[in-house]
Amino acid sequence: MQILKEKQSLKEQIQAYKNDGLSIGFVPTMGALHQGHISLIQKALSLCDKVVVSIFVNPTQFDNPEDLEKYPRDLEKDVDRIKEISDQVIVFSPAANEIYGSNVTSEEFSFDGLEHQMEGKFRKGHFNGVGTIVKKLFEMVQPDKAFFGEKDYQQLQIIKKLVEKQHLPVEVIGCPIDREISGLARSSRNERLTTEQRQNAAAIYKVLQQVKEDFGTKSASELTDWVRDRFRSESSLELEYFEIANADTLRPVEEKKEGEKYRAFIAAYSGDIRLIDNIALN
Ligand code: PAJ
Repeated sequence: MQILKEKQSLKEQIQAYKNDGLSIGFVPTMGALHQGHISLIQKALSLCDKVVVSIFVNPTQFDNPEDLEKYPRDLEKDVDRIKEISDQVIVFSPAANEIYGSNVTSEEFSFDGLEHQMEGKFRKGHFNGVGTIVKKLFEMVQPDKAFFGEKDYQQLQIIKKLVEKQHLPVEVIGCPIDREISGLARSSRNERLTTEQRQNAAAIYKVLQQVKEDFGTKSASELTDWVRDRFRSESSLELEYFEIANADTLRPVEEKKEGEKYRAFIAAYSGDIRLIDNIALN
């Protein structure tokens, strides 16, 4: 398996693949890989000749320096995890100055309002940081297809918008949320939960499933009241937001209409650990 740290060597490798007519799949990550990431890599391996996985903790998407510092970094462990499924993957794991030089700043984007909803309200500058790094990585990797998880559904929509608005020659593929047996969406943050917190956090998905069942007979505001009550009775979880939104625009909706697609979204804290999840409502 190849582990590349320099963009120049990545570019040369990519050029060689392109010359051979091979298709390139790309899975951007920040490392601390778990089964959710692995499911994306497997999907990429099934659809592309060569797969690049980037492992880069991107400083510009963190609004909290402490969060950035605490982010788990263990390249060796990540590489071993990937090796379990394939030795054909190219890992790109650059240092920050290889990507940003001395200018660690974000480009400013408009994502036609997607960036103002949900996560955008609670994580200032986050999506400019995500847009900046993904655009830079797309330029370096030049993928035919790029794979993103529906776990970060708003991020997925934003990347699709980035590609559309900047006319980037890449197909963005959304992949289903990989869950623990309890239903809790897999996340590197789950490792920081105590056994009890982890069990209780399964309530997030149970609430989403109930919302899926009830949306239509109940309105979004009725369901919001119900969700708030449910979280008040869950001692170890604190709700940050609950939203039912149009699946494309991410604008909040009140009633279900025929022919439109909806999703429900939750962000909640278990202690100081922030968890997000979402579900398709039709
Ligand atoms: P990271 O949080 O490492 O996630 C990398 C990819 O894995 C994202 O597309 C995310 O949605 C997906 N993913 C995470 N947990 C998942 C799960 N349980 N099921 C399915 N997919 C899952 O998202 C980022 O990194 C960064 O913002 C990045 C796009 C790499 C830019 O820095």
